[in-house]
Amino acid sequence: MEADEKGRLIVVSNRLPLVLNAQEDGTWDARASSGGLISALVPVLRRRGGVWIGWPGTTDATLEEVLPALAAVGEAYGCSFRPVMLTQQEMEGFYFGFSNEVIWPLFHDLFTNCNFQPEYWQVYQDVNRKFAAAVADVLRPGDFLWVHDYHLMDLAAELRRMGRPVHAGFFLHTPFPPLEIFLRLPWRFEILRDLLEFDPIGFQTLRDRRNFLQCVKVLFNVQVKGTGSVVRVQVPPSLSHDGASARQVCAGVFPIGIDFAAAADMAASPEVRARARELKDDIRGRQMILGIDRLDYTKGLPNKLQAFRAALHRYPELHHKVNLVQHVVPSRKEIPDYQQLRLELEHLIGQINGEFTESGWVPIHYMFHNLGSVDLSAYYLAADIALVTSLKDGMNLVAKEYCAAQVDQGGVLILSEFAGAAAQLQRGALLVNPYDIDGVASAIHRAFCMPEKERSERMRLLRRTVRSEDVYRWADAFLGVTSERGAAAVPYPEDYLPSAKP
Ligand code: F6P
Repeated sequence: MEADEKGRLIVVSNRLPLVLNAQEDGTWDARASSGGLISALVPVLRRRGGVWIGWPGTTDATLEEVLPALAAVGEAYGCSFRPVMLTQQEMEGFYFGFSNEVIWPLFHDLFTNCNFQPEYWQVYQDVNRKFAAAVADVLRPGDFLWVHDYHLMDLAAELRRMGRPVHAGFFLHTPFPPLEIFLRLPWRFEILRDLLEFDPIGFQTLRDRRNFLQCVKVLFNVQVKGTGSVVRVQVPPSLSHDGASARQVCAGVFPIGIDFAAAADMAASPEVRARARELKDDIRGRQMILGIDRLDYTKGLPNKLQAFRAALHRYPELHHKVNLVQHVVPSRKEIPDYQQLRLELEHLIGQINGEFTESGWVPIHYMFHNLGSVDLSAYYLAADIALVTSLKDGMNLVAKEYCAAQVDQGGVLILSEFAGAAAQLQRGALLVNPYDIDGVASAIHRAFCMPEKERSERMRLLRRTVRSEDVYRWADAFLGVTSERGAAAVPYPEDYLPSAKP
């Protein structure tokens, strides 16, 4: 593979964007996972040359088993994937432990869910060093390293400590918390100091970058220069590599998008249309309120169910006229909080269905499973209303996927104002505070009653934004900051600021 004049790109994420499956003959097969990230970055990897490094998503296969599968999928995509194998013990301390029991809840402002075990921090650093060693193995002069997400915040610093400094950028897919929450982190100085080794550092929203800048100002007394989508942080000599000179790093706002064209084409395909008709028939012409959420306490699932219950109490005209079709995608099942959440949800759904079910109508249809791509697209197409009630969310791509798949433009998006997507989608969506049960209930009723004309005007606005700010534009904007073009014009929206009256 030939690198173009920009130098190769090395992408690193905790998980490779692949799904590995054991075959009957004992070999392993790898396929690309669905999602915009791989669609956006593989063409860049193909053009510039480079490699995608990450954990292959299973601890069951050995390195010898994984390598041929990755080589085959890399061949098919015209780029290369390189595995970092993790032991069960590393998974426990690094992935379940530090990443998902410390950083995940903290960065979503839910610090009471944090389990600040000192051993987790040790393993997190060890595994970041392991990823750094995998990068060092392939690194060539002129390469640019793009690191994704909260699992690998130490990576650039580890490479430097290893004597292999590299130009590396970082994109945080989750939110970044406000100062008073971040300060609870026992390793706050180390994490922030190591993040400042990246340039640029990218965030989903202005809110996240503002939080980050406040933290570096307070903890390290840095100066920030500039305004707009990319600002420059003056890193003081005390944090510089030689201990004497100041450095500058860029901090930017780059709201991630989806592959709009692919999602819209899929929804318009005859197969998806036929499946969507079946789904509508299943609920006998009632309005479908759709929820698709990973099993996660950040998604506000109990709030959503309580709001639906409140709507059924307050608006009896909804009875027999709507179904809440809630898909919950299994996730991080080894973590006790996730197991507990599943029990809580199933209990609540049982209560609500027990309270309202009548002959011929069960209000909530609940499925705990992974959805295939045709079914996913068909549900998006069939749904009259999509209901997203995250307590906090980096972006929430379900909201964007719903808009892209609404090719007939009749659906209404109800969206939490605490999802990153709210900043971009505030003009077309009905924004709600997920903690306000009555407010969400009244948004459900408003969406149910919304005239067709208003529905399609709103959906047209939403689709225009999701189309123009897609994942390709996102990747170009981030990579543009690292190239000579400098910070390309990145459209980023102002925060959503709730007015007193909805
Ligand atoms: O939002 C962060 C994220 O890592 C996403 O990229 C991913 O879809 C989700 O959380 C679940 O991640 P995982 O199953 O790897 O923990």
